[in-house]
Amino acid sequence: MFNALTAMPADPILGLLTQYRLDPNPNKVDLGVGVYKDEAGHTPILHCVKHAERHRFETEDTKVYIGPTGSAHFNDLMTKLAFGHDHPALLENRIRTISTPGGTGALRVAADFIKRCRTQATIWVSDPTWANHNGLFEAAGIQVKTYPYYDHDNKSLRFDDMKAALAQVSPTDVVLLHACCHNPSGMDLTPSQWDEVITITKNVGFTPLIDMAYQGFGEGVDEDAYGVRQMAANVDNMILCSSCSKNFGLYRERIGACSLVTKDPTTADVAFSVLLYVVRCLYSMPPAHGAAIVETILDSEKLTQEWLEELAQMRDRINGNRSMLVDKLKEKGVKRDFSFIAKQKGMFSFLGITPEQVTRLQQEYSIYMVDSSRISIAGIGDGNVDYLASAIAKILE
Ligand code: LMR
Repeated sequence: MFNALTAMPADPILGLLTQYRLDPNPNKVDLGVGVYKDEAGHTPILHCVKHAERHRFETEDTKVYIGPTGSAHFNDLMTKLAFGHDHPALLENRIRTISTPGGTGALRVAADFIKRCRTQATIWVSDPTWANHNGLFEAAGIQVKTYPYYDHDNKSLRFDDMKAALAQVSPTDVVLLHACCHNPSGMDLTPSQWDEVITITKNVGFTPLIDMAYQGFGEGVDEDAYGVRQMAANVDNMILCSSCSKNFGLYRERIGACSLVTKDPTTADVAFSVLLYVVRCLYSMPPAHGAAIVETILDSEKLTQEWLEELAQMRDRINGNRSMLVDKLKEKGVKRDFSFIAKQKGMFSFLGITPEQVTRLQQEYSIYMVDSSRISIAGIGDGNVDYLASAIAKILE
């Protein structure tokens, strides 16, 4: 049976990890996978996480099954983190949240849930979007279409084109929006642009699915949730997929959440039962460890404060790296304008070079980035920015 298989290509993002690890060049630079790195190129465990893990080690008293919803307390805390403590949909008991294995798990559950709502479902994703969005929705049997988003030539948002496309979407379709720190472009909607998108969503009647994988990496925990909160206050149906991988640095623990916002509590209960059925068929129940850590942090004022400070440090370092790269490229005499990098948000930007130039950077300089020239800004540091900027200057000559 296995003889009928043809090999799959390496994942365009995760495949870079292996290549980078095998590269013996001591000057190698990893701008591939979106993980936070410190100045030494290390992805540290947050102090608040270490505290919470110690607490868990001392207090955990069973490994019994947790159930398809995961921890109800974690779900409650995550709902409040995303929507705010006093969101009308929360006060009206119209939100249901489950814990999921990472943000990807949340998206996959959402995909199967959408398929159960509508077998002929189509989801619209931004052009471009995170490479895995396409694969995971297609795996659930959902047709994926794109709406215009990023203008590669002008390094700007194609906002008018985006609005025009969304106005044509069928009310039975789903539209995926990035809450903040758009992956891969770093180009976010402003609050007033969110307001316009929300008006279109309301008027047309499609279901928004918001992917919030980077809450706190753009401007702040509350600022980054603007679109999520406004959307939920204005529509009858909405799906939110969130992740604790980046903002809590819990990548390998695989913890995220999937929330449904519905028009009334009765609809919420029915939808929730379907969501739980989907979970049971996919992976039965989520891992508990990451959720317990987040729960311990968000339950404690002191640990929450520490977390917010550590999150701000990560955000500030990434923003600092953005300006540092732009300045260094200028210093190296690069004529092309890269100032857009300093204006974008979150973990990523497109360098805007050709796939051939991306290959040259990898082969000649051991600098790794996705073929599209998406760079993970966290991989830049004082120790490699000179080397990086010189290499970019060379391949642009
Ligand atoms: C990324 O886009 O690099 C991250 O979200 C990691 C991943 O799973 O692709």
